[in-house]
Amino acid sequence: MRKPEHYREDCNRIAYIYDPFVRFISSFFGGEQNLRLLFIDKMDLKPDQRILDVCCGTGTLCVMIAEMIGDTGEVVGIDLSENMLKKAEKKRKDNMRFCLSNAEEIPYSDGYFDRACITFGLHEMPHSVRMNVLCEISRVLNADGKIVILDYSYPRHRLVRLLFNIWMLVEGETARDFIGRDLSSMIRGAGFDVIERSIHWMGVIQIVSGENVHR
Ligand SMILES: C[S@@+](CC[C@H](N)C(=O)[O-])C[C@H]1O[C@@H](n2cnc3c(N)ncnc32)[C@H](O)[C@@H]1O
Repeated sequence: MRKPEHYREDCNRIAYIYDPFVRFISSFFGGEQNLRLLFIDKMDLKPDQRILDVCCGTGTLCVMIAEMIGDTGEVVGIDLSENMLKKAEKKRKDNMRFCLSNAEEIPYSDGYFDRACITFGLHEMPHSVRMNVLCEISRVLNADGKIVILDYSYPRHRLVRLLFNIWMLVEGETARDFIGRDLSSMIRGAGFDVIERSIHWMGVIQIVSGENVHR
């Protein structure tokens, strides 16, 4: 498939080391599992629900969600990286599906999903693409639908900020742009009411949740 211009092939290249890398970094902050469980807790999951994981990467979160919602629910992960999805396919359970797709054009009908999430995905995109993606998520969520987002936040502590600024040089321009903006305003601009914002990992991570109000 033809990928959009903004897409960084780096994500596709690092797929083979992505899981151990995330586990290693997370180990300094209490572990990947704990962070993902905290995130899932904010999704307010119930059996039977249809859940969308946008920019699902290697599918780690999809697997955890699939276990929570049981066999009668459905988890769909979409991503633009063939290599990330190859890793995800190896973890796939019966109530899960992965799809090679641009998050700006999600191949599902209006209101199909009950919940949508996106973790460490928005900072990978230019701002205009981010807004397209958030609006597209609003379209595929139903009237009671909820979105939960996890991504970087700009830490306040001076030493943490110094180290974080160095990390941002590695992450690149779209990530630096992302941390200069307000995620809550972004999701409001895409048609959501903000329910909650919380900060984690010494201020370097934020989780924002919202409900779909424009549908
Ligand atoms: C840093 S990884 C995050 C993976 C996973 N969500 C996690 O929490 O570990 C970012 C992912 O976003 C995907 N991505 C970036 N832009 C995308 C787009 N426009 N549509 C779909 N996926 C995209 C990349 O392929 C990559 O797998």
